[in-house]
Amino acid sequence: MKKLNTYYIRTYGCQMNELDSEILSTQLENRDIKKVEKEDIADLIILNTCSIRDAAEQKVLGKLYEYKKSKDKIIGICGCMAMSKKEELLKKFKHLDFILGTNNLLDLNNVLDDLIIKKNIQRKKIDTTYEKGLDNFFAKRVNKIKASISIIRGCNNYCSYCIVPQTRGKEVSRDYKSIIKETKHLANLGYKEITLLGQNVNSYGLDKPEWKIHFSDLLYELDKIEGIDRIRFMTSHPKDITKELMYAIRDLKKVCEFVHFPVQSGSDEILKKMRRTYTSEYYLTQVNLLKSIVPNATIGTDIIVGFPNETDEDFNQTYKLFDKVSFDTAFIFAYSPRQKTYAARLEDNVPNEIKQIRLKKLLSLFHETLKKKYQNLIGSKQEVLVERHNKDGLFLKGRTRTFEKVIFKGDPKLIGSLQIINIEDFSHQTLKGHISLT
Ligand code: 5AD
Ligand code: SF4
Repeated sequence: MKKLNTYYIRTYGCQMNELDSEILSTQLENRDIKKVEKEDIADLIILNTCSIRDAAEQKVLGKLYEYKKSKDKIIGICGCMAMSKKEELLKKFKHLDFILGTNNLLDLNNVLDDLIIKKNIQRKKIDTTYEKGLDNFFAKRVNKIKASISIIRGCNNYCSYCIVPQTRGKEVSRDYKSIIKETKHLANLGYKEITLLGQNVNSYGLDKPEWKIHFSDLLYELDKIEGIDRIRFMTSHPKDITKELMYAIRDLKKVCEFVHFPVQSGSDEILKKMRRTYTSEYYLTQVNLLKSIVPNATIGTDIIVGFPNETDEDFNQTYKLFDKVSFDTAFIFAYSPRQKTYAARLEDNVPNEIKQIRLKKLLSLFHETLKKKYQNLIGSKQEVLVERHNKDGLFLKGRTRTFEKVIFKGDPKLIGSLQIINIEDFSHQTLKGHISLT
């Protein structure tokens, strides 16, 4: 096999996968393999995959069929499908050279070295336990202003529909010293915003009681780091959100007032079957508590429609809860059965047309809520972190502390700075304004 000069990487799924792709890319760039944006000119193709819904897996399978014709490339699968499909992929796709599990990101170079010596043997590296070295590996980020930092990997919740505990294993908190070190490193490089990532950030530290440090304590430590202007975090499981976290959001200057807090359903019957371990009333109590402690907090959710046996009445409960909370961001999904989950034993008996109707109803409610909210924001002043130009290059683009997108005219030198914007208008899901001169 010739020397590898170029690689192409495609990321599917969540922000954790985006970060994992940055970890993979950094290792390749450290050995002088250059990133290219087109598969056909790459010596190495990596698909960093997602298994959360069937559609995500189908996209990757489609790509693998497409690559059957590419003879002299190394092709690898990383991420959740490496964990969920394992040998099945290697057996089915003889041109697939390696699969690398979510705990084996740092084995990439060894696997490639092996393949360069002898290409014809398929390689597999899949460990079920967390790779400690990841704590101290600082990836080069694609974005120059904001970066994600993983603080806890895996999930202990076993929601009945979810494949993540199978693909990412049990919760393992990352050593807080290395989180602080990486945040300082990013601040020195000029980063302004960090997002702390975990399937359930509120569980941070619970698997390491000897550390005596919980998620809110970590926020207090990170807030002290000079150079960083904003700290975000996601995702928060409603059962684990604490008053201490709410106080931290209220009291810490850098911690932004936005909580991604998925409710999944508004029906207690469905929540029980989903094994979410809270009721809709409990969820609303937590939302009200958060709003009473942090009045300007915005709230994001994920919703699944069409879970097995979800009736019209169950869906109405979701609709009502959605209306009551007036979510500020919402990702709405049609239920997709996942292998070896508890829910996969239940019949997927809500027809797809009904799932789509329910999905559209929630989406239109969501858009109505947003319109009202944006209308109310006209005339307000918002602090915006300037992230980049928008697509047509005419405006600068950034987000408020509470996560709304804003565009405005200004000098590109402002990218990376905080600006106060007078909000004057909005279209779709973007606010428009002018830099405030006062
Ligand atoms: N079907 C549909 N949506 C799912 N999610 C997780 N598993 C499934 C599934 N089997 C959604 C949940 C979760 C988000 C990341 O993906 O809403 O919060
Ligand atoms: Fe999946 Fe539930 Fe864990 Fe989220 S909390 S990753 S939905 S099992």
